[in-house]
Amino acid sequence: MEDIDLTDLDRFAHGFPHAVFDELRERAPVWWHPPTAHTPDGEGFWVISRYADIVAVAGDSATYSSERGGQRPGGGTLIEDLPVDWAVGVLLNMMDDPRHAEVRRLLMPSLAPRTLRLIEDDLRARAATIVDSAVDKGDCDFLLDLAAELPLQAVAQLLGVPQEDRHRLFGWANVALDYDDRDLGEATARTQRAVAETRAYGARLFEAKTADPAEDLMSLAAHATIAGQPLSAMEKAMLFSLLIAAGSETTRNSIAVGMLALIERPEIWPALRRDRSQLDGAVEEMLRWASSTSYNRRTATRDTVLRDRRIRAGDKVTLWWTSANRDASVFADPFRFDITRRPNPHLAFGRGGHFCLGSTLARMEMRVIFDTLLDRVDTVELTGPVEYTRSNKHTGVRHMPVRLTRTAD
Ligand code: HEM
Repeated sequence: MEDIDLTDLDRFAHGFPHAVFDELRERAPVWWHPPTAHTPDGEGFWVISRYADIVAVAGDSATYSSERGGQRPGGGTLIEDLPVDWAVGVLLNMMDDPRHAEVRRLLMPSLAPRTLRLIEDDLRARAATIVDSAVDKGDCDFLLDLAAELPLQAVAQLLGVPQEDRHRLFGWANVALDYDDRDLGEATARTQRAVAETRAYGARLFEAKTADPAEDLMSLAAHATIAGQPLSAMEKAMLFSLLIAAGSETTRNSIAVGMLALIERPEIWPALRRDRSQLDGAVEEMLRWASSTSYNRRTATRDTVLRDRRIRAGDKVTLWWTSANRDASVFADPFRFDITRRPNPHLAFGRGGHFCLGSTLARMEMRVIFDTLLDRVDTVELTGPVEYTRSNKHTGVRHMPVRLTRTAD
């Protein structure tokens, strides 16, 4: 146990360290992670690794805040404290009710199944173009050429971002979310520039949508009011950054890591090509398997007890969704990738009041891209080493070289 350091990002650079969490679930399900040389703010935090405890904590936002708790000046849902009124209390996912529920209610209709059904045909047409151009290349980077494109195009469409700007935004989100040149809690000139550029872009977009609204989410947020008041300029800028990041990064990682699981089990691809009714089950298993958001943090608002461990007001408490998704008390044989797994109550999208707002969109994107690939691609093989993202927050890949062979029919 002394060797565990969940803040040393090098330990996440080759994929999620499942063995560490097997041990934590078994021996110390509510574990106090002492500060190490890598830990931000120089203080420890609680690590919750079992499914049932994570569900309980995520469902109790009065005791476990996404915003702040105790005497600490900052808070939020990352291990490192973020400043209040910059991210905390301003970003939707780092707000508590009642404000959180009000902002969430504003956005829900744009991401609801009924609305998204209207864009499914458009997503299918986009997926066909993406897959065709990757198949024409034959040898390509599955992450950049396939997994990243549909989520990015979809979120650009949803927010009302001109498609020609999407790669610039993708570049900024990559720099802000990856940790290739820094440690937790550190910002480099490059990351600061990327964050500032995303926010400035969002502010300009809001100005444009305020003056000339269209049928998109940014126009809706530009004109929305809560109790007669518009969203603050900071709330709007942060909402834009959140949706660009949440909408593109996580889904592409689930697609890429899901594809990797299929490549490693070559019998599944032809079976899915023959019987597409298995695709929904495959998507759910890919979501569980990839668990692309590894953890989210809460802060205890009062002294409490979890499995006999005393948690104090102000303590940081981290919920490891990826670990819950490998908990053998819920998932039989959890390290078996099984597209027929039923039920599959994975926590890839979180649980409780902050349950992912984009889950229907993410599922639709995954279904559409894999459906299109299955129609047009006979085999997918790896042609080089997979490069993983160096992050304990987002499990995913940077590059994944593959060869695609077009179907004969
Ligand atoms: C496979 C893809 C995705 C995964 C694994 C994922 C995962 C998650 C998780 C675990 C949370 C909960 C955070 C917490 O409890 O602190 C969350 C929240 C959220 N997600 Fe996703 N997400 C995905 C796709 C998307 C997409 C496509 C969008 C938007 C277009 C999106 C927007 C959001 C938003 C706005 C929240 C905050 C909700 C709130 O605080 O009420 N996500 N996501």
